[in-house]
Amino acid sequence: MQTFFPPQAQALVVLLMSLLLPLTKPFTVIVSDSSNQSALLDGPQSGFTMNRDGARTDAREQEAVYDIMRATGNDWATDIPDVCRGRWHGIECMPDKDNVYHVVSLSFGALSDDTAFPTCDPAKSYISKSIMKLPHLRTLFFYRCFSHNPQPIPAFLGQLSPTLQTLVLRENGHVGFIPTELGNLTRLKVLDLHKNNLNGSIPVSLGRLAELRSLDLSRNTLTGSIFSLSFPVLNVLDLSQNLLVGSIPSTLGSCHSLIKIDFSRNRLSGSIPESIGSLKELILMDLSYNRLSKPFPTSIRNLNALQALILKGNPMGSATISSEEFDGMTSLMILILSYTNLHGPIPESLGRLTNLRVIHLDGNRLNGSIPTNFKDLKNLGELRLNDNQLTGPVPFGREMVWKMRRKLKTSQ
Ligand SMILES: *[C@@H]1O[C@H](CO)[C@@H](O)[C@H](O)[C@H]1NC(C)=O
Ligand SMILES: *[C@@H]1O[C@H](CO)[C@@H](O)[C@H](O)[C@H]1NC(C)=O
Ligand SMILES: *[C@@H]1O[C@H](CO)[C@@H](O)[C@H](O)[C@H]1NC(C)=O
Ligand SMILES: *[C@@H]1O[C@H](CO)[C@@H](O)[C@H](O)[C@H]1NC(C)=O
Repeated sequence: MQTFFPPQAQALVVLLMSLLLPLTKPFTVIVSDSSNQSALLDGPQSGFTMNRDGARTDAREQEAVYDIMRATGNDWATDIPDVCRGRWHGIECMPDKDNVYHVVSLSFGALSDDTAFPTCDPAKSYISKSIMKLPHLRTLFFYRCFSHNPQPIPAFLGQLSPTLQTLVLRENGHVGFIPTELGNLTRLKVLDLHKNNLNGSIPVSLGRLAELRSLDLSRNTLTGSIFSLSFPVLNVLDLSQNLLVGSIPSTLGSCHSLIKIDFSRNRLSGSIPESIGSLKELILMDLSYNRLSKPFPTSIRNLNALQALILKGNPMGSATISSEEFDGMTSLMILILSYTNLHGPIPESLGRLTNLRVIHLDGNRLNGSIPTNFKDLKNLGELRLNDNQLTGPVPFGREMVWKMRRKLKTSQ
């Protein structure tokens, strides 16, 4: 596993696993809420008495948790006299100044062997409306919960506590539209609706979520175009594997904190906006398998933090790679430009990007010879140049060829 977030992003709630494996999809896992753990943002409502059995949990919230647990087939929880004291994995509580405990986080689903949140009964689970009775909630996480009982994302989630920072509804089999009401959750930092069956377009109201750090709507069947984006602190934007059309909005360039953009496997057309060059923090950009039909913007060479550029499977307007095309991309490790209609020679300048580990230029109409300075790419472990019109020798020593073995493809 490779994690290569800059330190400021590690303070975030998101961990990206295998981000750099080009052939597998990156998987975003929410680990924990990094927000201030020492105190509640809001004070208590007032007038609490002790619960039965001397429990210290807010009585109304306790009843709400029972409802939510019942609605997911976890009736066992209703035998726990104080849910905050019971402390199963998947519930987090915090005391207020009167030492009354409030529920701040609820999580469901078998995420991994060592993250055993309560599982849902997939055939009959639903999200109980009692969730509205948790005014201090910061994190709500449902993973693989409603898959055999397909249901829309309830619009009432838009009225959840204004303290909500993380909403994850991942692989739950949700159908229908993304409720516009989610745009009311203006304190959200993480919105993850990955791998459901959501359709319709991305509601413009989500543009109001100005504090978002991670927006993952990947693997749904969303249609329509990408609205004008303005997310000043967004690090991760994953809209991959949908049916999105239209062009990439040039406002993308105003989302200065972006680290990862994945729009792969949609139907986006037009050009990569010139404004992309202002994304100085960008590490990964995957726009593969779309219908982008214009040559690279010249600003792309300004992306000097970029480690992975994946544009495979776009017509890219029959471009040549200019000699200074990727000049500033000194961090580049993965370059995947297969089947992008490139023609002309491979520029020598590519051989000077010595961090390159993976180069795929196969399935183009590149001609001329392989630049001799490719032998200086000491980190190179995978090179695909097959299905081009290249001629001349392979400029690698025996050792390099042996190292790459079957990951070196130069002929048909
Ligand atoms: C965390 O909460 C404590 C106590 O309310 C406060 O003093 C501190 O400034 C907070 N820290 C941050 C980073 O918000
Ligand atoms: C979206 O999905 C729902 C339920 O699966 C379906 O009834 C509806 O017709 C779909 N709408 C669109 C615009 O595809
Ligand atoms: C929530 O959003 C909906 C639709 O976007 C809007 O009509 C409604 O007034 C909002 N509610 C609140 C409480 O802000
Ligand atoms: C490469 O192809 C172009 C036409 O696309 C041609 O003009 C050029 O002479 C070719 N170069 C080599 C070295 O074959």
